[in-house]
Amino acid sequence: MLYIKKAAQLITLQGHSDTPAIKEQMKNLYVIENGSVLVQENKILAVGKDEDIRQQFHEVIDKAEVIKAENKIVTPGLIDPHTHLVYAGSREKEYVMRLQGKTYMDIMNEGGGIHATTRATQESSFEQLYMETAKRLDVFLLNGVTTVEIKSGYGLSLEHELKQLKVAKQLNEDHAVDIVSTFMGAHAVSPMFKTNPDLFVDQIIQEMIPAVAESRIAEFNDVFCEKGVFTPEQSRRILEAGKQFGLIPKIHADEIEPYGGAELAVEVGAISADHLLNASERGIKMMAEKGVIGVLLPGTAFFLMAKFAPARKMIDSGIPIALSTDANPGSSPTFSLQFIMNLGCLQMGMTPEETITATTINAAHAIGRAKEIGSLEPGKKADIAIFNVPNYLFLSYQYGMNHIDTVIKSGVLVVK
Ligand code: NIG
Ligand code: FE
Repeated sequence: MLYIKKAAQLITLQGHSDTPAIKEQMKNLYVIENGSVLVQENKILAVGKDEDIRQQFHEVIDKAEVIKAENKIVTPGLIDPHTHLVYAGSREKEYVMRLQGKTYMDIMNEGGGIHATTRATQESSFEQLYMETAKRLDVFLLNGVTTVEIKSGYGLSLEHELKQLKVAKQLNEDHAVDIVSTFMGAHAVSPMFKTNPDLFVDQIIQEMIPAVAESRIAEFNDVFCEKGVFTPEQSRRILEAGKQFGLIPKIHADEIEPYGGAELAVEVGAISADHLLNASERGIKMMAEKGVIGVLLPGTAFFLMAKFAPARKMIDSGIPIALSTDANPGSSPTFSLQFIMNLGCLQMGMTPEETITATTINAAHAIGRAKEIGSLEPGKKADIAIFNVPNYLFLSYQYGMNHIDTVIKSGVLVVK
């Protein structure tokens, strides 16, 4: 048994395992001062004021391994609900090109961007991808993240998409970080289909989706719905086809230009619409009405020097918001969800409380895991982060640094 003792602030985020936190709920972290947590095997046994926990569990506490949390804060392990972590190569030269004025889309249309990473990933073996991705997951864990969603989408053929998804599956078994997988065959149009993109859409629908579903290697199905990539109609076909095979829709929506992505997310019943930098008024209203989660990725706006998603307006309209790194080698090469929290506050008008809700319980909802993780409540998985800060404001206040002190994953001390 683990006894996490007397945190200055225990951030529990209780009470939102069934539906995501919205509006004012996103500001309420259910903080317990001088709070303690008891962990039994891989689950949380009890959460409460230290004096209450000691009184109620005094017999077992004496034998527990004590982790002192005085002057520190304790939160649920952070959750990143949108990454592209299985890839080979890097794109620092494109970064320099963008610094000189080229746009992300220009680079992609000239065969770079996602296509460059696709070539490198196709040429890479399972073992190489496994090793490189494992290292990235190590960094996530050291930064307090205990669950990540990972998308395929640098394969763009059945063989290589499955290779990426198998890497994620194997790492889910081998690595401390839990991985939730998303098929994203529709990340870019394979250059082989440049003159007839609809044929590539057909291939995704007829060949890739059935095979991915049959091997039970992904839960979600994502599409890059963007001018010059997949149209809303193509995206709809792909997401509807996935639904026939039990794959839950997600969508890269309105990232570079307004394109009806938010509206489409609602129409196909997506669990989340991600990016939303240029979502329309109508799309925002529709998402709020249906409770579609907005997964915002301010690292991407930061790194592409674009305007940020209107998070304040979205939260005030009632959209449940989650935050993510979008970790990928092109548009957001960071593994720091703590930095994303800072951007959430300074660039998107979120409060520090909202950024914590957005990287814990709402992030869990965005990947369908809110019953198991995302809050500190008895019965939930013991995924716990301890930060070496006196109060939770420091997480987004002292920025660009890693405040992690200790990480517990499924009841095991993995970072200390
Ligand atoms: O979420 N927008 C499309 N996909 C990624 C970028 C992937 C890449 O550039 O390699 C994104 O921004
Ligand atoms: Fe993405």
